Amino acid sequence: MNDKELVAHQALQYVSENMIVGLGTGSTANYFIDALAKRNKEEKLNIRAVSSSVVSMIKAKEAGLPIIAMEQIKEIDLYIDGADEIDADLSLLKGRGYDLVREKLLARSAKKFIVIVDESKIVKKIGNNFPIPSEVQPFAWEIVKNILMKKGTGDIRINAAKDGYAITSCGNFVLDFNYPEKNTAELNALLSQTPGIVEHGIFYNLAHGALISNNGKIREIWKN
Ligand code: 5RP
Repeated sequence: MNDKELVAHQALQYVSENMIVGLGTGSTANYFIDALAKRNKEEKLNIRAVSSSVVSMIKAKEAGLPIIAMEQIKEIDLYIDGADEIDADLSLLKGRGYDLVREKLLARSAKKFIVIVDESKIVKKIGNNFPIPSEVQPFAWEIVKNILMKKGTGDIRINAAKDGYAITSCGNFVLDFNYPEKNTAELNALLSQTPGIVEHGIFYNLAHGALISNNGKIREIWKN
């Protein structure tokens, strides 16, 4: 079992009967989806799952999990997802998956949000390893870019085929920016308060706990 799979399996201990479980997106979250589907079937847990992206919804359906739509929930019991970066205060950077709105809604509406990562995701400051993504309404992107240029450097995200702009599942563009001043609280406030930004990749004060794997061992960090 690799470190991503190991930490995904460890997260299963927080699942219990009749829960509504939020499913993340990415390779670590995929291991959790498979493990959850297996346990749900074997132990008849009556889990219902809500996906953070179309990709994770397809994955969950294939694995045999009963899926409910986001429109059908007001809150969820548990959200398990990976992250691109995590710091000692459980601030996260997310967003490679283009589904920031859904991911943050699940994080915010979860009674318990547990992040599953391997040691490579640990950073001293959010933004150390990756640019910070902001999902912007298409008509607003140049105004927003101009505002963000006062604090950092970056540009609009290009799609995988490199023949146009990347489009999120909500039909928006993404601006990826590096900021020299890496103060997570200030950057979170700046991006949250900039009109035209629908959502951004800093998950500040949202995670309740993190499971972190390193060479076959797992450590935990919990919010007080
Ligand atoms: C998607 C995410 C993922 O959780 C993040 O990219 C981690 O992916 P992986 O588990 O494949 O390393 O935030 O938006």
